[in-house]
Amino acid sequence: MEIKKISVIGGGTMGNGIAHVFALKGFDVNLVEMNNELADKALKTISSNLDRQVKKNVISEEDKTNTLKNIKPVAGIENTPSDSDLIIEAVYENKDVKLNIFNKLNGIIKEESIFASNTSSISITELSVTGRPDRFIGMHFMNPVPVMKLVEIIRGYSTSDATFNQIKELTLKLDKTPVEVHDYPGFISNRILMPMINEAIFALMEGVASKEDIDAVMKLGMNHPMGPLTLADFIGLDVCLAIMEVLYNGYNDSKYRPCPLLKKMVAAAKLGRKSGEGFYKY
Ligand code: NAI
Repeated sequence: MEIKKISVIGGGTMGNGIAHVFALKGFDVNLVEMNNELADKALKTISSNLDRQVKKNVISEEDKTNTLKNIKPVAGIENTPSDSDLIIEAVYENKDVKLNIFNKLNGIIKEESIFASNTSSISITELSVTGRPDRFIGMHFMNPVPVMKLVEIIRGYSTSDATFNQIKELTLKLDKTPVEVHDYPGFISNRILMPMINEAIFALMEGVASKEDIDAVMKLGMNHPMGPLTLADFIGLDVCLAIMEVLYNGYNDSKYRPCPLLKKMVAAAKLGRKSGEGFYKY
């Protein structure tokens, strides 16, 4: 089966970016949201992100028009076209919500199609109990999707070689770089990134250095584009804490214990950029 029709479930930060990159490469994309208003809002976001690419001469005005033509907004997952070759789920990071969606789609979408989740931390194997485990896979795009080159492709316990190879080929067609990762907590990206951020928070809590200096060491000394505390504010401290808990519970290893300062800041609703204050004020 050649993958031509793609349904992206959820048009938020990641979903609209995923729809954008597939439509730009000429795929038929259904962008499935909870209702018409949210689907239209996602399309408007895609349109303004395409405008930015036109202004920077990354794409032409004609590319923008064609990309938008390739995206069909859909309201309600029950209306997801049954002939979709690939489903990419990008709804909230909540296991029950995702299980519910895959259960419903399993009864709607044709048997040979592949199901993928963009989850950043939930086990692909645990999501694949909803059906077609050999055709179930993780496609972990990075934010912002139109800019970032990496896609972590996560093989669940039962993901077949055929499914993996198809998704790898598809990722290359998007001009992105696939990496093969097995289904263990945090995959590779968050298993390495989050403990680094957590350690930076420990260093701050212990008074080893100021937040500005911790960030400066990693920016200027290690050539990271952003310091770990700035990055934590950008990601959201609640998201960082949730991922540390996935690592801690998944490995039962104290090396992944979330820093008490991180927990305290989340309890105080200092979540970073999105709440106006985290390690820095916005
Ligand atoms: P978001 O909150 O921006 O978007 C989620 C969207 O899903 C919302 O627009 C919501 O209306 C929609 N939705 C919820 N239930 C739905 C349903 N039943 N039917 C249709 N649409 C529904 O979330 P975001 O940040 O885009 O994250 C999505 C997934 O991507 C999560 O699993 C997250 O862990 C993962 N991820 C997020 C990254 C990020 O930097 N934000 C990076 C990589 C992965």
